[in-house]
Amino acid sequence: MAQRVTGVIADAKGATVKLESILVPDPGPGEVLVRVKACGVCHTDLHYREGAINDDFPFLLGHEASGTVEMVGTGVSNVAPGDFVILAWRSPCGTCRSCLRGRPWYCFASRNAQQPMTLADGTPLSPALGIGAFAELTLVEAGQAVPVNPAARPEAAGLIGCGIMAGLGAAINTGGVTRGDSVAVFGCGGVGDAAIAGSRLAGAHTIIAVDIDDRKLEWAKDFGATHTINATDIDPVAAIRDLTGGHGVNVAIEAVGSPQTYEQAFYARDHAGILVQVGVPSPEMQIQLPLIELFGRGGALKSSWYGDCLPSRDFPTYIDLYLQGRLDLDRFVSETISIEDVEEAFLKMQRGEVLRSVVVF
Ligand SMILES: NC(=O)c1ccc[n+]([C@@H]2O[C@H](COP(=O)([O-])OP(=O)(O)OC[C@H]3O[C@@H](n4cnc5c(N)ncnc54)[C@H](O)[C@@H]3O)[C@@H](O)[C@H]2O)c1
Ligand SMILES: [Zn+2]
Ligand SMILES: [Zn+2]
Repeated sequence: MAQRVTGVIADAKGATVKLESILVPDPGPGEVLVRVKACGVCHTDLHYREGAINDDFPFLLGHEASGTVEMVGTGVSNVAPGDFVILAWRSPCGTCRSCLRGRPWYCFASRNAQQPMTLADGTPLSPALGIGAFAELTLVEAGQAVPVNPAARPEAAGLIGCGIMAGLGAAINTGGVTRGDSVAVFGCGGVGDAAIAGSRLAGAHTIIAVDIDDRKLEWAKDFGATHTINATDIDPVAAIRDLTGGHGVNVAIEAVGSPQTYEQAFYARDHAGILVQVGVPSPEMQIQLPLIELFGRGGALKSSWYGDCLPSRDFPTYIDLYLQGRLDLDRFVSETISIEDVEEAFLKMQRGEVLRSVVVF
């Protein structure tokens, strides 16, 4: 029988979000019902409500979540009721052309629950990133529920489900940062700071944080930045060269989503350096680069979707590193809030006051 809970709904382009009664069905075959414990407020939730992702309103927002498995459908073997899980927006299918090429982190047919969650009148909801976790209960496909050590604090653990994994993976999986490397990270929000933390975990020697907000640069030091540059006043490319013996960095990570920072990251690399684009641009953005520079500088220009992560491999690993005191996920939690406060959290995010506001239930 469907259960009635309260969810955060975006029902029209640009309109403020509303709390509404929603119906969450019992899990069908291959589905899992999760009691949400915590869910971070991410930029992507705001993109949904601004109509920047698609027009499939109404959306059930929330996707950086952890919780406890309440009930499983037939055929589910990876989790059982009571398990503590982080929700993933990638659940590799195992059979698409990318999975069959041995690259499940690019899976082109990632799985979601088949049954819709609905408004009280039966209107189907579009769950943000196939999750929809600003609600006490949510329904996901089994592979989206990734079991991790239940000793982790739920509000910190949930963040691994999106932005923090994207940043860690941009450095470690996509950028291949390794011991002794020099790295520059453009944009020190949650994603950029996670890229800094990932670079430190991987053994980078020099980690240069670039932002236009001094508060963000202070926080970046806590995650492992060895140097900071405020790009408001100075040319970050020249400053990065100065800090790297005139050469530039081995890996430049763009975590803003703008042509200006992409271009800076492109030129901030040493020869044969890697550029990792993890910031999401808007559709009208363009970039122009001299072809001779693309050729002459060599290296690689890569984009990083969800940090090229494999949730079932990476989530438990990073939670264990957190519990061992080697990855400070708690520092990403700027505040805990209640489900009524999501709209206010969007404003704080836009004013740059928080890394993550996290709804707790
Ligand atoms: N690729 C993925 O899978 C993935 C996943 C999650 C989020 N993202 C994207 O990552 C990006 C960052 O997310 P976030 O949550 O950290 O956002 P955020 O808004 O918290 O952080 C962005 C940071 O960039 C800084 N900034 C803005 N303009 C700048 C400039 N010109 N130079 C240097 N710094 C500048 C801001 O001051 C801020 O600190 C967003 O575009 C988001 O959509 C990508
Ligand atoms: Zn696949
Ligand atoms: Zn997100």
